[in-house]
Amino acid sequence: MKKIDRETVQRILDTAEIVDVVSDYVNLKRRGSSYLGLCPFHNERTPSFSVSKAKNICKCFSCGKGGSPVNFVMEIEQISYSEALRYLAKKYNIEIKEHEMSDEERERESERASLFAVNEFALSHFESNLYDTADGRDIGLSYFYDRGLTDASIKKFHLGYAMEQSDDLLRAATSKGYNVKYLVDTGLCIRTEQGRVYDRFKGRVIFPVFSVSGKVIAFGGRTLKKDMAKYVNSPESLIYHKSNQLYGMYQAKPSIVKHDKCILVEGYMDVISMSQSGVENVVASSGTSLTEGQIRMIHRFTENVTVIYDGDAAGIKASLRGIDMLLGEGLNIKVLLLPDGDDPDSFSRKHTSSELEQYIRDNEIDFIQFKTNILLQGVENDPIARSKVIADIVRSIAVIPEPVTRNIYIKECSRRLEIDERIVSSEVNKQVKALAEKAAEKRLKKAGNESIEELSQQETADSEKEDEARREKDIETALRNAETISGTGRFLRPYEKGLLRYVLRYGMLDLCDSIDEQGNTVPVKVIDYIAEELKIDDLTFTNPDIILAFNEAIKASRESWSSDCARNDSDLMERRSRYIAEGEAKLRETETDIATIERKEKLIVESADAKFQEGKDNFAMLYIEKALSSHPDDTIRNITLELVADKHVLSKVHTKYAHVETDEERLGELVPRAIFEYKDAILECRIRKLHDDLKRVASSPDADPEEIRALMEAHVQLQRLRGEFAKYLGERIINPRK
Ligand code: CTP
Ligand code: MN
Repeated sequence: MKKIDRETVQRILDTAEIVDVVSDYVNLKRRGSSYLGLCPFHNERTPSFSVSKAKNICKCFSCGKGGSPVNFVMEIEQISYSEALRYLAKKYNIEIKEHEMSDEERERESERASLFAVNEFALSHFESNLYDTADGRDIGLSYFYDRGLTDASIKKFHLGYAMEQSDDLLRAATSKGYNVKYLVDTGLCIRTEQGRVYDRFKGRVIFPVFSVSGKVIAFGGRTLKKDMAKYVNSPESLIYHKSNQLYGMYQAKPSIVKHDKCILVEGYMDVISMSQSGVENVVASSGTSLTEGQIRMIHRFTENVTVIYDGDAAGIKASLRGIDMLLGEGLNIKVLLLPDGDDPDSFSRKHTSSELEQYIRDNEIDFIQFKTNILLQGVENDPIARSKVIADIVRSIAVIPEPVTRNIYIKECSRRLEIDERIVSSEVNKQVKALAEKAAEKRLKKAGNESIEELSQQETADSEKEDEARREKDIETALRNAETISGTGRFLRPYEKGLLRYVLRYGMLDLCDSIDEQGNTVPVKVIDYIAEELKIDDLTFTNPDIILAFNEAIKASRESWSSDCARNDSDLMERRSRYIAEGEAKLRETETDIATIERKEKLIVESADAKFQEGKDNFAMLYIEKALSSHPDDTIRNITLELVADKHVLSKVHTKYAHVETDEERLGELVPRAIFEYKDAILECRIRKLHDDLKRVASSPDADPEEIRALMEAHVQLQRLRGEFAKYLGERIINPRK
């Protein structure tokens, strides 16, 4: 892949809006100054994924994942930094200039991107077959029309047709320069053992499968003939994991969010027909039982699921288990039974959209109630069968994570089953406990397996006993050394983080004045103050990630700041003049009295100046953290995110223009104090080390008295220095360390 030039990268970073980017994957709700949703990176039932529009970052307060738009895309799509930039460029229609790729470059293009590209090509090929070829129209399109689909639906779901010839796609794709390897890897083509390659989909209508974000990841092909397997589907590939996908999710997403509800059906045609009938919040599990990944995907957008069954009793009983899983995820499940002989496809074709909506509203019932009814059918008078049913219902209730919801069901079911509520309740509680123990056991076992694996790896590596002993000693020593180094690093880490936090958040703000060699007063920025303070005492940070980030911040402040700032200033200046000009024009229209005009003019200029200053401050304040939070280096992005995104800060920013004294206003006090505390901590480290050295030297039989005295002297000096520090910091140190 070609490198993207710096200017374009900057344009992408400047354009990408976090709320916008995240919303493609997560249903966000506004909470004060930020947005909140369910974390897409781990399983959760209460939202802890927070998105800050102002800072243009997101973060999960539970699992810690998140970051700038680039970061988020990298993580969720599992792609590289430059792939993420390309994704964003595409999303925002930013052009990346690239040469016509040579064969060699095409080879080098990352595997995933190539698979997507081939799929994209196949998609448009199948689509154009449908309308632009005689067979496509006569066979494929007329089939879709026969099944009642409109052109709009066909286009919305990008339905297509694969020609009868077994090399139609293969030829078309290779003639456009697509590599056969990727045609085979996506499963669009099949390679025989003899090496012959042919199309997987032949003479079938095509249902493309899209990812949540709208990329083609697979295809399903339905035959139109009698004696063939009805469906052929793309195999699993680098970009397609069937068990994590739901058919129709990309198209259904907005409607699911809007109605706060997802309807679950079985097949391709069910989704498309219902959607055409105006019920658009529909997805399909594609004929298989639901997986955890699919449930999680639904849960990102809503908590309410309605499962539609076509009324065959055996099928329903078989699928009840799968639904227990939905309950276990904390979703509210309803069930809708269709009249005998109908599936969602046929039913929605027979009814108008308002009838369909009405039918759903009137007939969907609560899942546990539904399950109870189904299971109780025919066993009302058989006590043994009845008790089995009760046990089964109890198990369903027990998987519900919310105790309050569980209790509602306990009440309702005991009434329906005509059993004492206390009995149901105690049975449920027993199950809840059993489930918790099982989960704990599973976790333990998993942890155990991991360490056993590690152990056995080591064992094979060190088969020789002697070798093993020697290595163990080496490791021991290495560990001890590492311990002392990282011990210091660990001890100083909170202080170093504290300083870096000031650099990231306020680095380019003026902290105080200093006098230069010509006697002029010049403002000193937070970042320069901190750098200077470290230099005076010849200090460098000890934690590698902090060193990296700090150096990068310094670089940004010295290399790109002045030009970026000048550009921003001239923008602001222009806006200021425009504001004043517009204000004055209006004044002249509405006022006639010279004195009033003059007075109001002054006010306009004042307010324009205030706006100018605010724009300048905002730019300065976000400059460093913006540069670092989308830095190509993982380590730098991670530490930046950690320091910029905590809850505390989000609320602080929110109060920025309220009359609460913020960190920003107290920088002059806070930053010097953080420096002193850091230096004090370093002193403490040195004193401790001297102390240890002293003990070691003094306890050795041939101790050198000179050495001891020197050490003691150094010790005393450091203690005195610390004393002075303490005096300087005065009573401001409220919590002494340790
Ligand atoms: N399915 C599949 N692969 C198969 C069989 C089924 O992916 N080999 C999925 C498809 O999503 C299909 C759904 O399971 O839509 C339901 O299968 P089925 O009832 O057999 O097909 P219908 O969709 O009802 O097909 P049609 O109405 O066109 O006969
Ligand atoms: Mn069907």
